Amino acid sequence: EKGGYEHFMLKEIFEQPKSIQDTMRGRLLVDEGIIKMAGIWDHLEKFSNAGRIIIIACGTSWHAGLIGEYLIEEFARIPVEVEYASEFRYRNPIITEKDVVIAISQSGETADTMAALKLAKEKGAFIYGICNVVDSSIARITDAGSYTHAGPEIGVASTKAFTAQLTILSLIAIKLGKHNGTLSNVKFVELITELDAIPKKIEEVLESTHDKVKEISKDFINAQNFLYLGRGYNYPSALEGALKLKEISYIHAEGYPAAEMKHGPIALIDENMPIVIIAPKRGHYDKIVSNVQEIKARKGKIIAVVNKGDVQVSAIADYVIEIPDTSECFSPIVAAIPLQLLSYYIAVYRGANVDQPRNLAKSVTVE
Ligand code: M6R
Repeated sequence: EKGGYEHFMLKEIFEQPKSIQDTMRGRLLVDEGIIKMAGIWDHLEKFSNAGRIIIIACGTSWHAGLIGEYLIEEFARIPVEVEYASEFRYRNPIITEKDVVIAISQSGETADTMAALKLAKEKGAFIYGICNVVDSSIARITDAGSYTHAGPEIGVASTKAFTAQLTILSLIAIKLGKHNGTLSNVKFVELITELDAIPKKIEEVLESTHDKVKEISKDFINAQNFLYLGRGYNYPSALEGALKLKEISYIHAEGYPAAEMKHGPIALIDENMPIVIIAPKRGHYDKIVSNVQEIKARKGKIIAVVNKGDVQVSAIADYVIEIPDTSECFSPIVAAIPLQLLSYYIAVYRGANVDQPRNLAKSVTVE
């Protein structure tokens, strides 16, 4: 059942070229230049007329939501807010019939997400689900939705569900952008062509980084803390990398937008602090180079995730993990892979039960 892998988590990490492909199948039709998504198509007016989109979720799905915000705002130019379901449901939020609320949930059973959706529905919002489990409670209560087709995810740490969620959010943002006229045809074609190439790049990154990340992991078995930094689309990647490490290795980790360093966390940096920097060349590369220099000056141990052929960050970093180049908006999908592997191997070397970490459940059905 684990297909020869030691843990479900590793199997699920390696399934990602396929799970992403499955999520795009029948939807991304590159040759015809279209994105087919019935859930969006049938309710296009709701989305186009939405005053704003509110994304609600918990944990990893919330991180996917943050990237969804960047995607939808960049391409469809609709304002997006992302909220923890647990906060949203108890703060008497302002919701109107013009709002579209998207819930993201792997299990489709998360109690807080479910309650937040019910509230939004009562207040008249149009509610949309992005779930992995077919016919789950959230999938059933929503007005419409798109399933991620990641297949069953058994490991408590979410891996392939996360990249499938990013795939769906990319498709939605690009489709809405095309419909709204906020995305040029040239850019549309460029994006769908690049998205179509992602499964291949995931295969590549699995192959090229696996052994290296496994090696690197050995040096951090006794770490007490970790910082993860990224900017733009990869700020949520940093949050997700940190969460993954926390939940399975029990090492304290925090993710931050790299520029927030100097507003506090930089005080933590010394020669004992490992810092994972996600720094692909597109986006805010120059800015991140200066952040890396600041960290180096304080002797932090830098593990950098960069694009192949990178020079500047690689020259400063203590450990370099190279990933293939892609559009900035899809870089979190590619960057997720080495971060998943890093937390996996650190946890394995620490002897932790990676598939069933202490205190955690796969579906959080109580608040
Ligand atoms: O099933 P959901 O996507 O609604 O679950 C949300 C979180 O409980 C979940 O993502 C959790 O944070 C994972 N264990 C992360 O790996």
